[in-house]
Amino acid sequence: MFRDPAAWCYRGEMTSGVRIRPATHDDLGAVRRLLVETWHDTFDPLLGRERVTEITDRWHAVNVLARQLEAPDSSFLVAERGSEVIGHALAHVPHPPILVLARLYVRPAFQRQRIGRRLLAAVTLRHPQASRIRLTVEVDNAKGVSFYKRNGFAVTAEVVEDGLRGLRMEKALAGGLTADLS
Ligand SMILES: CC(C)(COP(=O)(O)OP(=O)(O)OC[C@H]1O[C@@H](n2cnc3c(N)ncnc32)[C@H](O)[C@@H]1OP(=O)(O)O)[C@@H](O)C(=O)NCCC(=O)NCCS
Repeated sequence: MFRDPAAWCYRGEMTSGVRIRPATHDDLGAVRRLLVETWHDTFDPLLGRERVTEITDRWHAVNVLARQLEAPDSSFLVAERGSEVIGHALAHVPHPPILVLARLYVRPAFQRQRIGRRLLAAVTLRHPQASRIRLTVEVDNAKGVSFYKRNGFAVTAEVVEDGLRGLRMEKALAGGLTADLS
């Protein structure tokens, strides 16, 4: 039996008060603001402010997010505290049984409070048929790489996507989720 993630307590840190739920169209402005803020915080030192603005304008325009929200076989989730959107995850299953984690973002002021871990568990729970989860993380994003290693992912390849150097990371899912939440 899974515990209610909303009441989940990890290493003594209560993360209750943070709710994870599927996004609606009404959330898309807040999701865009979260992505712009978190991209600048994470990637300006690596890619430069101008390049990050160019990428996030293209990838995170509200009409692009709206298409992703409506895509089949996908999970577009938000984490909220009160009415404030503080985290976001997007995952889809383009080639079953592989679940692709396309995005995982927590606003800088809320990072390292186990919200990323809860979003990761929530997307995985929504795709019980998936036996593997895959993602690409920017090669110099130490915080992201550390998070995924900490959550059981291993590097399977080095890739270049949209001119960005990345690490493909994967982990098996079968039977792994109960352990993640215990
Ligand atoms: C990566 C991210 C989603 C993790 O979410 P989170 O809620 O901060 O992470 P959690 O609290 O669940 O897990 C904490 C782990 O993440 C990593 N981490 C998170 N913040 C970190 C920081 N400021 N410095 C170093 N490592 C960090 C560490 O491995 C940490 O484990 P530790 O506390 O035992 O050292 C979040 O930090 C984030 O949005 N980062 C910017 C965007 C990004 O890199 N997204 C993923 C790549 S696409």
